[in-house]
Amino acid sequence: MTLNIDDPDWYPIASSTDLPFRHVFHGQLLGREFAVWRADDGNVNVWENRCLHRGVRLSIGINEGAELKCQYHGWRYANRSAGCTYIPAHPADAPARRITNRTYPCREAHGLIWASNNQTAPFVDILAAPTHSWLALRPMPVNAEPDAVMAALLAWPNAGAVSQYGLTVTTDPARPVHVFVQPVDAARSVIRGLVDAPKAEAAALLSQFNSRFSAERDQLERAAARRPAPPALEPGFEKVSAELSTMPEIAIGRGVTINVRIARKWLVAEDVTGVELAPLSGHLPTFQPGAHIDLHLPNGMVRQYSVTNGPGELLSYIIGVKREPASRGGSLCLLDIVREGDLLAMSEPRNNFPLRRDSTKTILIAAGIGITPLLSMATALAKSDLPFQLHYFSRSEKHLAFADQLAKFGVSFMPHLGLSRDAIARTIATTLDGYEFSQHVYVCGPAGLLELVRSIAAGFGWPEEAVHFEYFKNDRVIDDSSSFEIVLSRSALTLQVPAGKTILQTMRDNGVQVPSSCEQGACGTCLTSVIEGVPDHQDVYLNETERAGNSCMMTCVSRAKSARLVLDI
Ligand code: FES
Repeated sequence: MTLNIDDPDWYPIASSTDLPFRHVFHGQLLGREFAVWRADDGNVNVWENRCLHRGVRLSIGINEGAELKCQYHGWRYANRSAGCTYIPAHPADAPARRITNRTYPCREAHGLIWASNNQTAPFVDILAAPTHSWLALRPMPVNAEPDAVMAALLAWPNAGAVSQYGLTVTTDPARPVHVFVQPVDAARSVIRGLVDAPKAEAAALLSQFNSRFSAERDQLERAAARRPAPPALEPGFEKVSAELSTMPEIAIGRGVTINVRIARKWLVAEDVTGVELAPLSGHLPTFQPGAHIDLHLPNGMVRQYSVTNGPGELLSYIIGVKREPASRGGSLCLLDIVREGDLLAMSEPRNNFPLRRDSTKTILIAAGIGITPLLSMATALAKSDLPFQLHYFSRSEKHLAFADQLAKFGVSFMPHLGLSRDAIARTIATTLDGYEFSQHVYVCGPAGLLELVRSIAAGFGWPEEAVHFEYFKNDRVIDDSSSFEIVLSRSALTLQVPAGKTILQTMRDNGVQVPSSCEQGACGTCLTSVIEGVPDHQDVYLNETERAGNSCMMTCVSRAKSARLVLDI
């Protein structure tokens, strides 16, 4: 039989016991190498065994429980999706969502890890009797062709083939033995097996089959050494993905790309509801700590919510929704109208509040619903054993959202309950006193808290690039009375922005598609480089140095002080 690198069959490539938590196993199948690892949630990942950066084997990487970290330059990849979550050379940026390693389908069944080189073949469980208590036999590597190994095993008494490289041996009908040949490559195989064994007999059976497999290996290798080496496996050509072959339009702006089901709604604090968004199939896209999604509500409104999940938790996203008495209808619709089981649309996650992981100490400061992005950050830092403090200002204990998860951070979690504004300022001052190089502070909450932290941090000598913040909304009154000209240098267009219209609207009216999210100068999605002219900054996203530099602006709210702006669009 000719071995085919894209053989759609499923083969065992490891035993479950090869994958203790926080370990990475080097798997091989049909000439391909895999990094095989179990995440802390139990999910087994089978990935191409190379880091996308320099091709270093990920099987020598570090399993951080929810992400796999390459040993060489520290790129991290998320459980389930293999999407890149962190690039140390760009610590302040969120990696592009499309930087994703290749994954292979896998299943864990009967004490073995099964994988297939083919992305579409369904897994068929050939061991039909679920009542057996299978014991995985010690695998036996053999330097011989898979066909030769299979032929030798089929010569055993009472052996019968059950699949291309699987057979059953029934010397004792009450205790069937399944033996499989894992085709490593053209000239190497691994014999694996399962036996129905009560615990008391396990050691004896393991020893018995080990001797039998060893004897078979010795004979097979002697015979193989007398034959010419078989030709190496022909590498298969990568199939063009459905995504690429259909060339979908890249969703920009408030693009609706994913349908999700409301899996659960529950109270996580006095005035905050947790909402779990589940995919209709498979898993949700990779996100990085600090990311948010645009949720499209049945009343036509679009609202941004931070993803609270830890890294690699892609089976659903959990968001927190605060009941705001002064709500314009967005959150109230989600709280009062939308029910469990309803379907909604959401955007891909975007991250304008990325977390650095090269900080010697990370301070997270939240108030109210501002805990949501910081909960995700704290989970990522805790998983990687990086030092952090999470300060959470709240009216009372019952107003602490997601308190159960926060409690897991132990002494790193510092709730501050019922403090006056002066006491909050004193607590923040104590926290930020004594800045040292390579420390970073992240703050999310009401505008008053953000202003307070930014001014106290500046007073203690924290550089602006070490103070990271995310506003929920822009409370400033926008002055849109100016009229000016914009030159879009890449698009070769000159447009007039009239009073009452934003730069963003003017560009869209003229067919120029540009991304946006909050459209109130808070999220940073519409950030645009300015080549010439003086912007009139009206956002809350940029820091003072960025504003003074006049080299970028938010086109959704900011305008021009000069008669003309030249933009890099
Ligand atoms: Fe959010 Fe412009 S779209 S800042």
